[in-house]
Amino acid sequence: MSSYAITGASKGIGREFVRQLAANTANTVLAIVRDPESPDISEFAFKYSNVHLIKGDATDPKSLLEAASAAAAITGGTLDVLIHNSNAIDLASTPLNPSQLPFDAEGLRVIFDKPFSTAIYGGIWTTNAFLPLIEKGAQKKIVHISSAMAESQLIKKSGVSYAVPYSVAKAGMNVQVAKYAVELAPKGIKVLALSPGWVDTWEGEKPPEVLQAHEAMLKQFQAVQPDLKGQISSEESVRKCLQVIERLDAETSGLLLSQHGNATRWL
Ligand SMILES: NC(=O)c1ccc[n+]([C@@H]2O[C@H](COP(=O)([O-])OP(=O)(O)OC[C@H]3O[C@@H](n4cnc5c(N)ncnc54)[C@H](OP(=O)(O)O)[C@@H]3O)[C@@H](O)[C@H]2O)c1
Repeated sequence: MSSYAITGASKGIGREFVRQLAANTANTVLAIVRDPESPDISEFAFKYSNVHLIKGDATDPKSLLEAASAAAAITGGTLDVLIHNSNAIDLASTPLNPSQLPFDAEGLRVIFDKPFSTAIYGGIWTTNAFLPLIEKGAQKKIVHISSAMAESQLIKKSGVSYAVPYSVAKAGMNVQVAKYAVELAPKGIKVLALSPGWVDTWEGEKPPEVLQAHEAMLKQFQAVQPDLKGQISSEESVRKCLQVIERLDAETSGLLLSQHGNATRWL
């Protein structure tokens, strides 16, 4: 029997982690969401007796301590695997290249705030809040869901010069993961930054501008991987990510790996 906690579990990849992990009834799955009352997630969780909805916001340290305490009450104080998946971005500034970013302190801070709060500060608060449980767990694994958009070779080969705050935040996340891996290795704790691939998590019909942006991105990504057909499903991404998490050991701890389990193929 294993226990898993996932932040940002209300939709997309986070909710798919919950779904696939809950399919094994021996697992205890702690879905950390900002709004457990939301019908989308409460009706979904109702279907699984081994899923526990816990209120927690990755950008709010106090709420994470409360979430960890609620998790401990369910599991008896332990946790095997923590998956920090929450993410937020400023959509309007995403198309901007670095030289187009606001040339004023407040304007720049505003567009970096969401990705930094979820990936960087949220990564630290989530990890530190749940660390006492992980120390007592059997698997001792911490995974931060990162992105290949922070990988320099992929940026160069694809020519993706936009999405600067998001990519910078994920690059920072990768460094934090390496630091945690070094610090926690003597305790047998493994820490991984994991890129889930290019995943279709859009809910409902995509508006024309989104379809257009995806077409343009596909062409850029095909410069890196010519056989790429498009986005993969959450089901495929999470199935592969769970295999990588299963194999995580002291040797791979501290790295950024793709859903393929390597640092060479990102898409
Ligand atoms: N989709 C892709 O192609 C792709 C590619 C590379 C990496 N990733 C990474 O994979 C992870 C999941 O991506 P996704 O596309 O499924 O979902 P997403 O839309 O990026 O959101 C993930 C979750 O983050 C939480 N969240 C959103 N805004 C927040 C805010 N302002 N403050 C705190 N939490 C907030 C929400 O969960 P709650 O409401 O439950 O708190 C949401 O369900 C992210 O870390 C993303 O960067 C995705």
